[in-house]
Amino acid sequence: MESPEPEGWPGVLHREGRTLCRLAVDPAEAGSGPAAKGEGAIFHNPAMAGNRTRSVLLMQHAIEAGLLGDSTVYALDGLSASGLRARRWLNELPVDIAGRISATMSDMDPVALDWAMRCHEEFPPEHGEGELIAHLGDLRKTVLEHGRHWVDIDPYGSPLPFLDTAIQSLARRGVMEVSATDSAALTGSSKNALLRRYGARVRTDGLAHDSGLRVLLATVARTAARHERSIEPLMSIWESHHLRVSMRVVRSIESANRVEESLGWRIGSPTANEVRLSISAGLQPETSLDSLPMHCFLPLSHPVERSDKRVSGPLWIGPIGQSEAMASLTEERALEICGPFASEEDIIGWSERDFEYERRRIARSVRHISDEASVIGSPHLILVDDLASWLGSGSPPSPSGMVQALCEAGHRAAVAHYGKPAFRTDAPWDAIVSAAGTGR
Ligand SMILES: C[S@@+](CC[C@H](N)C(=O)[O-])C[C@H]1O[C@@H](n2cnc3c(N)ncnc32)[C@H](O)[C@@H]1O
Repeated sequence: MESPEPEGWPGVLHREGRTLCRLAVDPAEAGSGPAAKGEGAIFHNPAMAGNRTRSVLLMQHAIEAGLLGDSTVYALDGLSASGLRARRWLNELPVDIAGRISATMSDMDPVALDWAMRCHEEFPPEHGEGELIAHLGDLRKTVLEHGRHWVDIDPYGSPLPFLDTAIQSLARRGVMEVSATDSAALTGSSKNALLRRYGARVRTDGLAHDSGLRVLLATVARTAARHERSIEPLMSIWESHHLRVSMRVVRSIESANRVEESLGWRIGSPTANEVRLSISAGLQPETSLDSLPMHCFLPLSHPVERSDKRVSGPLWIGPIGQSEAMASLTEERALEICGPFASEEDIIGWSERDFEYERRRIARSVRHISDEASVIGSPHLILVDDLASWLGSGSPPSPSGMVQALCEAGHRAAVAHYGKPAFRTDAPWDAIVSAAGTGR
């Protein structure tokens, strides 16, 4: 039986990836930011399309790689709003994978859930596989009603209120994806909010967003440890106004006991002694100390001055992604799974150019992620602008030029998927300095 028409239905037709939906407000008219929250407006932020695309692709990888077991995958789109994320999982993933998914869209807004279910009825997955359930209620409570293999938390602002119960709801092995739009706090611009919410400090330099991602990972890791679980980051992304971390969560008291081994500090403009300590802790390779690096990590056990403005942390000092997971997010696969195909009589009247635009947007949402996979655990994330100023070498080298020079010198390096021109490398600092002399 068809669900009753929700308030404001039918709104306007919209396509994201390969999935159609109806929205109360045309995103083209709503501008690039989030729609107003509040009466009658179901939240939909077109700027989060890339975030949802990556979620589809990561779920495919997790299921194919056996990270979620071999039977039904119970997945929760925790704060679902329009429900587009859960609908994209079912609609865009191949039939054998979608057929294993039981997805729940959960929100405290009944109108949003009604719209989402009506959209699912009007535009169900072509293959007809997979289950979609709507669940009304406060996520902090409802998440505990059922065990899950996959939990997505995509709130207004900070995800903190939802972390504790979401972790507890996960099966022995699961995946959690957490977005945060309180980036002013996480990147150190709102110092009080950062300290109050995350118990950390972040230096507001070029790496502030990377530090913010690491503070978020450290927070999730500590929450997981409280519930005898450990995390393994799969992918950490900064995109425009939000930060997002995706991780495997595994139940293991032993690994939870070792949580502090993955936490520590990032020091800007470190002294020679701090760099020596970082090397001896295995946090960066041997380098001569003739020229000192711009940053280094130190373990949590290292005493830091609270008033020292060079210090960010406590933060996650381990890899912020997993090579296999990131390697699977290629542009080719993104287009194969999520790219829409032009049709002559398109239901929403898209021209070939519109389809091409959406396909380019899909490709852009994963650009550099698979290249960066092999170096995601590397100690150095280097912004080329900062490098040029640090070395006083005039105009900055290009990230790809630096990558080429470092690889030719026998190191691993890749252009980073970061919001500023940057590369990641496992090369020692002195090799980076000499590559900067040759990098084009
Ligand atoms: C930022 S939007 C989610 C966007 C969505 N995940 C997407 O990809 O478009 C946040 C949603 O959380 C819902 N919400 C806020 N607090 C909640 C709570 N405590 N429990 C359940 N839903 C909540 C709001 O109604 C809103 O729809």
